[in-house]
Amino acid sequence: MSSYPPVKIGLLGLGTVGGGVTHVLARNAEEISRRAGREILISHAAARNLDSTTARTAGIKLTGEALEVVNDPDISIIVELLGGYEPARSLVLRALANGKHVVTANKALIAKHGNEIFAAAQAAGTMVGFEAAVAGGIPIIKAIREGLAGNRLEWVAGIINGTANFILTEMRDKGRDFPDVLAEAQALGYAEADPTFDVEGIDAAHKLTILASIAFGIPLQFDKVYIEGISRITREDVAYAEQLGYRIKHLGIARRDERGAQLRVHPTLIPQRQLLASVSGVMNAVLVRGDAVGQSLFYGAGAGAEPTASAVVADIIDVVRTLTVDPDNRVPHLAFQPDALSDLPVLPMTEVETCYYLRLQAVDRSGVLADVTRILADRDISIEAVLQKEPPPGARDVPIILLTYRVREQRMNEAIAAIEALDSIHAPVVRIRMEHLNSD
Ligand code: HSE
Repeated sequence: MSSYPPVKIGLLGLGTVGGGVTHVLARNAEEISRRAGREILISHAAARNLDSTTARTAGIKLTGEALEVVNDPDISIIVELLGGYEPARSLVLRALANGKHVVTANKALIAKHGNEIFAAAQAAGTMVGFEAAVAGGIPIIKAIREGLAGNRLEWVAGIINGTANFILTEMRDKGRDFPDVLAEAQALGYAEADPTFDVEGIDAAHKLTILASIAFGIPLQFDKVYIEGISRITREDVAYAEQLGYRIKHLGIARRDERGAQLRVHPTLIPQRQLLASVSGVMNAVLVRGDAVGQSLFYGAGAGAEPTASAVVADIIDVVRTLTVDPDNRVPHLAFQPDALSDLPVLPMTEVETCYYLRLQAVDRSGVLADVTRILADRDISIEAVLQKEPPPGARDVPIILLTYRVREQRMNEAIAAIEALDSIHAPVVRIRMEHLNSD
């Protein structure tokens, strides 16, 4: 083994993931140092609980002041596990200014402030690892940034929020209602501190921002992601989709064509035979389409102490291995050289083309379906399937479900407005986008 002294790590946050990192580094210390070429030690940590047993048993110096760790001259790598925008952003920028490398699991921080953080790291000649920010233990950043670097990547579609996937799975398998399942996801500790981040798609949008950036070589643009969560999905929609051969998944989709890039997060009907449709519970999966490789699917635990620690520790090892490498010869943060990022425009949602599931609440009388199909036909929107259900007990209106072929969202918006204006249609039209995720 090398004669280099141990590398000292400073931890910011000693909660679930911090505990996982401490345990994995201790349990696998021998193999980790064989991989990294030198010993890795956590020597200083900032935590809210200064009586942490984890810290005591691991011999880690504890403080309540994160800045003390960031300014500790013995520390080479700061591992930021606080989450949220601030004080994480200021602490990371301070660490970089102090010449330290940073490893973070903070998707919100990277999605929103990553451009600033990577520029600061570039200026300081330091590294920022963020594998744990997307899909927990799945090494998707490394796979896209390095393993697929020979490809022109065309699209990425992922189940990247475990809580939303757990809720949709329970609604389908057990016919449970949304609020009831969310309460269980919170009790099980999957959900974000603010569960609206999970159910309204914000957490998935943070992760998609990062995936799109490294896939297409574009700056991080969280503000341009179209975001829709799962809070309006009913178990009836889940059941109707199943009857039509589809499953509803909450997907993050990044796609590019000659017009620009699409960045969108929304519930999506996908064919039941598509592998992503089988990803259940809190698991995550990311499907990537490259021109050379075709489709590649990456599956695994998207959250949890040790799966997330697996990604954090891999980043630490990467940083340790390259401590002595010329900063210009490292893998670029966003996969492409910083001066070679593209200004590909991000398309507004109205310009996106996709297929649709529509559910209407209609008066049960002749001619209603004809009116609806005429509105669609007038806009050249072609119908793939129609399903009319019995009115639920006690209800007057009948649910009509339509699946359409691909159409631009702007045109679908116009069609929906015209349908909603009909006397025979009583409630807002439910619209869920549909993707086949085949080879194009
Ligand atoms: N709340 C997130 C999820 C945790 O449910 O996927 C991992 O980022």
